[in-house]
Amino acid sequence: MTVSSTDGIAWITGASTGIGRGVALRMARDGWTVVASARRGDLLDTLAEEAQPLPGRIIPAPCDITDLDAVKAVVASAEAEHGPIALAMLNAGTFKPESARSLDSRVFADVIDLNLNGTVRCLEAVLPGMVDRQRGQIAIVSSVAGYRGLPSSLSYGASKAALINLCEALRFDLKRLGITVQVINPGFVRTPLTDKNTFPMPFLVELDAAADKIVRGLSRGAFEIAFPLPMVLMLKTLRLLPYWLYFPLVGRRTKR
Ligand SMILES: NC(=O)c1ccc[n+]([C@@H]2O[C@H](COP(=O)([O-])OP(=O)(O)OC[C@H]3O[C@@H](n4cnc5c(N)ncnc54)[C@H](OP(=O)(O)O)[C@@H]3O)[C@@H](O)[C@H]2O)c1
Repeated sequence: MTVSSTDGIAWITGASTGIGRGVALRMARDGWTVVASARRGDLLDTLAEEAQPLPGRIIPAPCDITDLDAVKAVVASAEAEHGPIALAMLNAGTFKPESARSLDSRVFADVIDLNLNGTVRCLEAVLPGMVDRQRGQIAIVSSVAGYRGLPSSLSYGASKAALINLCEALRFDLKRLGITVQVINPGFVRTPLTDKNTFPMPFLVELDAAADKIVRGLSRGAFEIAFPLPMVLMLKTLRLLPYWLYFPLVGRRTKR
């Protein structure tokens, strides 16, 4: 079952830029009160100002999701001041291009600590309230890059594959408790993160279109929100291939 703005507020992590920012504005346009988290409080303040003419509102709640106490404090004060978190979109994350030749365990650990462990810290903070209320919706942003191992995507791919697996496991556990779990698997979306990429990004989606797809997917409640369709079909087909076909095909396409 999905939730609506009458059930409580929304909490979005990674809301200072990119997908999180786009979805926060789109939800405020739909009347939601959105608590927006990221490290850069100045960007969150600008976001809140931008939302002022909208029917809902955005409340800046800066925090670093690598710090469990900070995450718990943000959730506690958001719920005390603005009501229960009905919907949490756990989106904060990063991508570091790596190859096996430049593998650095510290870089790897940092990416895992943000993308995977950071998301788990947010779950630890937000789940008890939802479990008590027997109601809530959690959407975790992974990536189509989590479907299968891809070149230059060592820590990123590993973190996103783990998030998809985590969402599948949570969906079983939390359904009984009235909490809907969803995984969001975007292809390439134009954001500050992808602006840094120098490699080709097929089927790149503009931010507004991506935010729109996500918000519509949140209201539908299906387990996976994945887009754009051509990219998803391509990568889901690759997922079905046996290794003897997968490696030469992807290797040739990516010149590896
Ligand atoms: N863009 C794409 O093509 C694409 C595709 C698939 C999946 N994704 C996923 O979508 C999510 C958002 O990506 P994006 O493209 O929108 O990138 P982005 O513009 O770089 O946004 C990343 C967000 O995460 C926040 N963040 C980073 N480290 C944080 C930390 N330690 N604590 C709290 N917040 C932190 C950043 O804010 P601060 O720096 O202010 O903390 C920023 O708001 C990521 O999980 C990414 O993997 C993106």
